[in-house]
Amino acid sequence: MVRKWALEILLLQLCWAGCGLCGKVLVWPCEMSHWLNLKTVLEELTERGHEVTVLTSSQYFLVDYNKPSVLNFEVIHVPYDRETAINVVNEFLEVAVNVMPKLPLWQSASEMQRFLLKATERFALLCRNAVYNESLMKKLQESKYDVMVIDPVAPCGELVAELLQVPFVNTLRFSMGSTVEKYCGQLPIPPSYVPVAMGGLTDKMTFMERVKNIMLTLFFEFFLQPYDFKFWDQFYSEVLGRPTTLCETMGKAEIWLIRTYWDFEFPRPYLPNFEFVGGLHCKPAKPLPKEMEDFVQSSGENGVVVFSLGSMVKNLTEEKANLIASALAQIPQKVLWRYKGKKPDTLGSNTRLFDWIPQNDLLGHPKTKAFITHGGTNGIYEAIYHGIPMVGVPMFADQPDNIAHMKAKGAAVEVNMNTMTSADLLSALRDVINDPSYKENAMRLSRIHHDQPVKPLDRAVFWIEFVMRHKGAKHLRVAAHDLNWIQYHSLDVIGFLLACLATAIFFVTKCCLFSCKKFSKTGKKKKRE
Ligand SMILES: *[C@@H]1O[C@H](CO)[C@@H](O)[C@H](O)[C@H]1NC(C)=O
Ligand SMILES: *[C@@H]1O[C@H](CO)[C@@H](O)[C@H](O)[C@H]1NC(C)=O
Repeated sequence: MVRKWALEILLLQLCWAGCGLCGKVLVWPCEMSHWLNLKTVLEELTERGHEVTVLTSSQYFLVDYNKPSVLNFEVIHVPYDRETAINVVNEFLEVAVNVMPKLPLWQSASEMQRFLLKATERFALLCRNAVYNESLMKKLQESKYDVMVIDPVAPCGELVAELLQVPFVNTLRFSMGSTVEKYCGQLPIPPSYVPVAMGGLTDKMTFMERVKNIMLTLFFEFFLQPYDFKFWDQFYSEVLGRPTTLCETMGKAEIWLIRTYWDFEFPRPYLPNFEFVGGLHCKPAKPLPKEMEDFVQSSGENGVVVFSLGSMVKNLTEEKANLIASALAQIPQKVLWRYKGKKPDTLGSNTRLFDWIPQNDLLGHPKTKAFITHGGTNGIYEAIYHGIPMVGVPMFADQPDNIAHMKAKGAAVEVNMNTMTSADLLSALRDVINDPSYKENAMRLSRIHHDQPVKPLDRAVFWIEFVMRHKGAKHLRVAAHDLNWIQYHSLDVIGFLLACLATAIFFVTKCCLFSCKKFSKTGKKKKRE
């Protein structure tokens, strides 16, 4: 017994020694799938002995601060109740699922922006209640955090970091039109071969597609922005007591953790403080619950298809649900469909509805043949991790872009949620299941994903710890942050050189004209003589 205790103490000491520097991490999260992804990193940080505190809004409904957890929560109270917050999101989803897919890209992006601008009011309230609460700020100040981890989709995190003078790490998939990475993070995005986020283009563009890419770049630059910049610039200046902008404050991030990797991305230039950590939440599959395993095994040789539209979409219109169900009824595979709405009349005997599915474990099951997905980044990565080909029915946000990437890599077929018929969905499913190229491509992506020098989760944690150890990562910061737009594009230098050239040409022509005249004069003189 005593020996066991001694051993345990020894192990504990080893763990502490292993941690080296056990730091304090403050987190500014965002809702939905963003939080599910971030939580994996935070839990890993606590596993390694760090103390993690999440600064959350009382209205966030996925950030479950009431449940027992290894994370600490500091709740900022806002006069919105969760019920209202859920309704706002549901209202958005209603539009996203039933209206957005019918709209052309720029209109659906404007819908998205309308929602984001509506959210500004709520984020601003949250921000005010955080930064103007003196006792809260004092408490945070006294806690002496070593690093902040921030999801920039919800503004204000970087403002808190600036007030507390704590270095911070940004984590995101992308911002609308990549505006944040490009202007705040200085990530180079040459429009000739890097498709604009949300444009659904690939890296190999025809002339007309390049025209579209540039038009989209301009569109996102001038008309459609991820935040109400004017409001936030003013708010940040007011709080900090000096003129500043949201972008400038965000740009102070030491490290940017991007939730993709080269299995997903098209090759592109990036900066030394950008780390691509896509798929960090993926894990090997665990055994399924008994009842589900029995159902999966009953599929025999044909295998199963997994179908989920993500955690947010609960129900479809009855018409759409029937259309989908009748397509699913015609395949020989068994189908596990995550769906909470009314049971469709056309549901086949091969299809079973579930309120919730262990998606990662199902995708890792040897009987799984295909995944029908809305194309959320988390789900796509689970499919890549396990090498499962996909049928994509994207709806909004990053989903069309994610499916476009998978389509370009030959691992997915896209079906339009709005215009699809039963036959369209059926033929897409048959293609993905029966044409071996989809499986091969999915397996290729999976091999690329698994063959990395350091796993994405370890890399994410490494860089957060790096920032803690060194109080930042300024050695990775490009000097582009200090240049203005004219200097960045060397327009001043080009202007100067053009002026030099013009002057040179001017003098050379002048000289020429002068000597020519003189020459012709002397010539004439000579003739006369
Ligand atoms: C300010 O923060 C403290 C500590 O987190 C909290 O107890 C208090 O309710 C907050 N005050 C307001 C006005 O929100
Ligand atoms: C989804 O379900 C909610 C209530 O459960 C209902 O109010 C809403 O109309 C449904 N939406 C669709 C598209 O059927």
